[in-house]
This record gives sequence, C-alpha cells and structure tokens, in this order.
Amino acid sequence: MSELATALLSENVNFKNEHPGKNNSFIEILAGLHQKQKTINPKYFYDTRGSELFERITTSPEYYPTRVERALYTQHANTMAEYCGENCVLIEPGSGSSEKVRLLLESLKPAAYVPMDIAKDFLQHSAIKLGKEFSWLNVHAVCADFGNYDEAPKGLPEGKRVIFYPGSTLGNMTPDVAKQFLRNLSTWLGHDGGILIGIDLHKSTETLTAAYNDQEGITAEFNLNALNHINTLTNSNFNVNNFSHQAFYNVELQRIEMHLESNCDHIVRLGESAIAFSEGETIHTENSYKYTQESFQALVEDAGFSVRQSWLDDQQLFSVHYLDLL
Ligand code: SAH
Ligand code: AVI
Repeated sequence: MSELATALLSENVNFKNEHPGKNNSFIEILAGLHQKQKTINPKYFYDTRGSELFERITTSPEYYPTRVERALYTQHANTMAEYCGENCVLIEPGSGSSEKVRLLLESLKPAAYVPMDIAKDFLQHSAIKLGKEFSWLNVHAVCADFGNYDEAPKGLPEGKRVIFYPGSTLGNMTPDVAKQFLRNLSTWLGHDGGILIGIDLHKSTETLTAAYNDQEGITAEFNLNALNHINTLTNSNFNVNNFSHQAFYNVELQRIEMHLESNCDHIVRLGESAIAFSEGETIHTENSYKYTQESFQALVEDAGFSVRQSWLDDQQLFSVHYLDLL
C-alpha cells in the first residue's frame, strides 16, 4: 500500500485502510467473466459515483426499502437501543453514507461507531461528515471488504459488540453465502454481542420489479456504472453503450436479478484476456433475495443465531431484527 494505512481524519474520526487492492480485484473480476454465466460481484458497483447513485436510488419513489426501514428506526429507536445495550461498539459492514445510523445514535449512545466500506473516498467523506455532526461520537472508519474478516477488525475499543447491518445488504448474498457470512459475524461478537439487521420482505412481483426499474433510470445508471468502475480498477475497455440494464424478479428463487445485457457481438479487453460477448448475452451483476419472516428465521437459526425481536411496518414491506447467539 503506497498511502498511510491509518490516519486521523479529524478530532474524533480515525481511518484505517485495509482495502484488498487492485490485484485481488483484477483476479476476482476476471474469474467472474470467465464463467459460463458471466458474473460481477455487486461490491464492484461502489466507487464514489456508484455510492452516489445508490443514494439517489434510495430517494426514488419506487425504491420503498430505505423509506420503510428508516421509519422503523425512527419509530423504534429506544426499544432497539435497549437490545443493543449501553456503550456498545457498533460496527456497520457496508456503511455507505451512514445515514441510517443517525436515527439510532441519540438513543444508543455507542462507545464507538465503526463504519466499514469498500468505497474508500465515499467512506472517508461520510465518516468526517458524521463525526462533525456528532462531535461526542468516536468514529473508527475501516475501508475493507467485509467478507474478508474471520474476526472483528483489530484495534477497536472494548465493549459489547453490536453489528448494525441495515439495507438488506445480506440479501445480496445467496442464502448459503449469507449463512456462512452470519457464522463468520458470530466470531466478531464475543459471548454477549448481537446483530441489528434490516431485511427486505417477499411481496408482489409488480412492486419488486418497479423498485429495481425506476422511471428516472437511476438504477440503470447504477448497474452500468459497474463497468466504468471495472475499467478504472483493471484498465479494461468496457463500453457502457454496448450494454443495457435488466432487472426482474425470479419468483422461484425469490430474488431480484440484475443483469447487463450485451447489445451486440463484441470483444472486451481485460489485461491479457479478450472476453467475447454475443448479442443478448448477460453479465449477472446482482441478486437481491427477499425473505419471509419464517424463511429468515430459519436462515439465522441455521447460522447459530436466534431472533430476539422483529419490527415490521404495517404493510409488511420491510423488517428489522435483533439477533443474538443461540
Ligand atoms: N448500509 C447503508 C448502505 C447500503 S448499500 C444503507 O443501508 O443505506 C451497500 C453498501 O455496502 C455500499 O456502501 C457498498 O460500498 C458496501 N459494500 C458492498 N459490498 C461490500 C463488501 N464486500 N465489503 C465492504 N463494503 C461493501
Ligand atoms: C445494497 N442493496 C441491498 C441494494 C438492493 O436493493 O439489493 C442495492 C441495489 N441494487 C439496485 N438497487 C439497489
């Protein structure tokens, strides 16, 4: 790493850089594009532009999850804080703009907040902004791939560990990977820790499809931006004009699938490799699994957790749960 691995960004904001680096990204992206169904891991959506586009998606009329989840935190912050306990160390994998945590901070008063994200510049910017707004809060930002940790990031303050995992980001993993990820998280927690997690719920295909095909085309731009990000990371030559956004609900697997469909036969260069695309072929860029109360409970129990409390909106669009170890 050529830059400082740790830095003090402001009086109450530390930053640690544990980003996996461009070489690892190159190997992973190439492997995904060599599969029969070409794939890109959804973490590659998130450079600064991708993070900004995600924020815009969350304010679109069709994308209900953020609005509904925010309302649940606003309404139930005090009860949620009772489950988390006083002075906890609150760790948020995939923290993005750290907007949702603001709704909990006054009730929770955590000893420290640890935003973790793969998008370095956006994370730094968000952490500084949060630290300024909440001058009493100790912020320990970590730029990292949250999938790479068998234990909690090092150097955190003592105290009960609570993982805050909102946004249904767990839904971007297949259930098997999600289970393994939850098992991994249990090693971050110690004996008394817990997880406060937001999970999107199964609902009509119409509502789900609209949420990932907003009229303004922000989700389309977000999906296509993965190719720009990959060009920067790997020096490849994807042309976004050769691809189109696709998002549909796979009823059988209960997941939204996002793809980028090639508009023509063409070849993309990535390092020494030439990747051939035929017209109509897709790159699978994201899954977004939707759960029922029952299917989510079964998943977490398989991973060694129990659901202590759940909060749902009246229309049962979205859910937040406090999990602790079985
Ligand atoms: N927690 C926020 C943001 C959710 S968007 C909310 O609920 O609104 C998903 C976030 O996870 C993005 O900021 C993205 O950069 C981050 N992310 C996705 N995959 C990641 C990974 N493997 N490691 C670290 N961060 C990741
Ligand atoms: C971050 N993640 C849970 C979002 C989702 O809904 O799966 C990302 C997203 N993709 C398209 N729109 C939003």
